[in-house]
Amino acid sequence: PVLQKAVYVPNLAPTLSMIRQRTDLEPRFGIILGSGLGGLADAIEQPQSWDFADLPGFGKSTAGGHRGQLVLGRLAGVPVVAMAGRLHRYGGWSTQQVSFPVAVMHGLGATRLIVSNAAGGVNPKYRVGDIVVIADHMDWMHGNPAARFAARPPAAPAPADPPLAPAVDTLHRSRAVYDPAMLETALRASWRGGFTAYPGTYLATLGPNYETRAEYRMMRRLGADVVGMSTVPEVLAAVGLQMRVLALSMVSNVACPDAPNVANHEEVLAAGAAAEPRMRSIVAAVLAAEREC
Ligand code: 6GU
Repeated sequence: PVLQKAVYVPNLAPTLSMIRQRTDLEPRFGIILGSGLGGLADAIEQPQSWDFADLPGFGKSTAGGHRGQLVLGRLAGVPVVAMAGRLHRYGGWSTQQVSFPVAVMHGLGATRLIVSNAAGGVNPKYRVGDIVVIADHMDWMHGNPAARFAARPPAAPAPADPPLAPAVDTLHRSRAVYDPAMLETALRASWRGGFTAYPGTYLATLGPNYETRAEYRMMRRLGADVVGMSTVPEVLAAVGLQMRVLALSMVSNVACPDAPNVANHEEVLAAGAAAEPRMRSIVAAVLAAEREC
């Protein structure tokens, strides 16, 4: 028997045609609203929304607290497509399923992606509610060769087998994963807004478990600033589709085992609520800066 490679090309047509039955808005940005930015979905003007459950190809489950909707509309006049809620690998979804919505966003016309998440602070200088603009990541959701096929233009040929060495995909070696211009805009927005957003390195784990104290110490020594269980699959899919990417973390808990005083539950909730308008102001600044492009 001839063995065939399991090349994954997302079948976007049914999803796109369902969306196009209702709107011909061409979004400039895709936005994935994780914990910490969920309320932004309500700020979208003239929204058209679909439950994930009704869209072909979308996973039918979302983590608690998420709306599980795709929303098309305008933010500050800029056409956007937003995901209120996302799928996680720890929920049992594949890389392809987690990143399918990114391919849909790209198929609708989005050339840029803004991703948000809630993450554990590994850098000891972070406090709950701090915002980190992801400058780079460490992918510990590794061991899944299909991630290379997560999303690509339908007409593009399947990539050749990767060379056995060097191990890093040339796609990701050849340019920065996180767009330097949007990153700088985000940092400037925080200075102008009178708060600090730190550029940092996001370490992605598969979960579902959090880490041991020894693992936090290891992550710190390796140079991670925040740790979380999302974002990297979607970001890699977007980069594969040549989208420009900005990713923001809200520090939802301090993952530093030696922290002198760990926040209690009320403090965590209050810090999260205080962080949301800051996250939104960063998104607004990036949309405004990219308006002309
Ligand atoms: Cl502390 N660890 C991981 N792996 N993911 C998280 C987190 C911690 N906090 C939020 N997401």
